[in-house]
Amino acid sequence: MRIGVLTGGGDCPGLNAVIRAVTKSLLLKCDATVIGFEEGFLGMIEGRSRELDLVALKGILARGGTILGTHNKANPFNHYLAGGADVSDQLVENYHRLKLDGVVVIGGDGTMSIAHRLSEKGVKCVGVPKTIDNDLMHTDRTFGFDTAVAVATEAVDRLQTTGESHSRVMILETMGRYAGWLALHSGLAGGADVILVPELPFDVEEVARVCRKRKKRQRFTMIVVAEGATMLDGEQVVRERIDDSPDPIRLGGVGNLLAEKLKPLVDSEIRTTILGHIQRGGTPTAFDRVLSTAFGAHAASLVAGGRWGRMVALQNGQMTSVEIAEVADQTRLVPVDSLLVHAAAAVGTSFGRADF
Ligand code: F6P
Repeated sequence: MRIGVLTGGGDCPGLNAVIRAVTKSLLLKCDATVIGFEEGFLGMIEGRSRELDLVALKGILARGGTILGTHNKANPFNHYLAGGADVSDQLVENYHRLKLDGVVVIGGDGTMSIAHRLSEKGVKCVGVPKTIDNDLMHTDRTFGFDTAVAVATEAVDRLQTTGESHSRVMILETMGRYAGWLALHSGLAGGADVILVPELPFDVEEVARVCRKRKKRQRFTMIVVAEGATMLDGEQVVRERIDDSPDPIRLGGVGNLLAEKLKPLVDSEIRTTILGHIQRGGTPTAFDRVLSTAFGAHAASLVAGGRWGRMVALQNGQMTSVEIAEVADQTRLVPVDSLLVHAAAAVGTSFGRADF
C-alpha cells in the first residue's frame, strides 16, 4: 500500500505528532510506503514529495510547526500561482504517477473542502481535524486548541498583574477566526472580567460601564476579545479582514478598535496586546500530543480499513469518524446557550451586553 500525507492551511501545534502517528501506524501495522507532500496541496500540484521512514520521524512528537511545510493559499481548484486556474487535473496526475492508494490530509475546514472535491475526482482521502480555533463541525475538539488556550491563558495571567499594578484596562486580542472558543476558554481560565466573542456581538457602552464600575473598587479590568468579535452597532471589521484582505498583516483590528472606542468612555489608561501567531507556534501541550497521536492512529486504521472520504473525530470522549462532506466549508460556533457561557456569566463575567 502507498499512502500520501500532507498538512494543509495554517500550521498548528500537534501537526508533527499527527504525521508521526499516521506514518508509524502505517509503517508498522500495514507495511505501507508513506509519501509526505511538501507545503500541503502545493506539493501535490507540483509533484514535490519525499518518502517518510522511521528516521524522518525521529524527535518530532513535541516539535511545533510541520516538518512537511504547509501553504495556506494552495488550492488546486483556484491556484494562486496560476491566476486562480483549476489545476486539480495536474494534482490527480501526480497522485497516479506516484501510484498512491490514498492520502491522509491534515487540516481545517478549507482543507476538508478541497479533500471532498478531490474525492469526487477519484483521489481517496482520509481527514484529520486541525486548528487552534476548535471550529470544525462534528468533532468536540481539534488538535492545537489546547496549546493555544494554554498560551492565551498565560498571557491573561501576565496581563492581569501588570494591569492591576497600573489600574489600567487591559485588552487581549486572541485568534479564533469567526468562532469564540479560544477567547472563551482562555478568558475563563484566566478569570477575565469581560469576554467578547463573535457569537454575541457586543455593545461598547456596556463594556465601558463594566470598566467604570470596576475602576471604583477593583481598579483594573481584563478584557479578552476574539479577533472575530463584532459590535452590536454593525461595525464588522473582522470578516473582511480575515478573508479578503490582501494585506497579510491584519491582526489587531478589533482589539485596537475596541481601545479606540473605549477611550472617551472610561477614565483609565488602556493597553492592548495582540497575541497573534504566538498562539500557533511552539511545542504542543501533553493533551494535544495525546489527541494528535490518537487522531493519527485512528486515521491510519481508517486507511487500513479502506474507509475513504471520512475525517476522524472526537465525540463524547470516543474516537470516531464522520463524512468529510459533512465538515467541508462549515464553522462550528460556540453555542450561546452552552455550559461554558452560562458558567462565565454565573461567575460575573460580562459578554459586553446588558441583556446577557
Ligand atoms: O485558523 C487558524 C488561524 O490562526 C486563525 O485563528 C487566524 O485568523 C488565522 O489562522 C491567521 O492566519 P495567517 O497565519 O494566514 O495570518
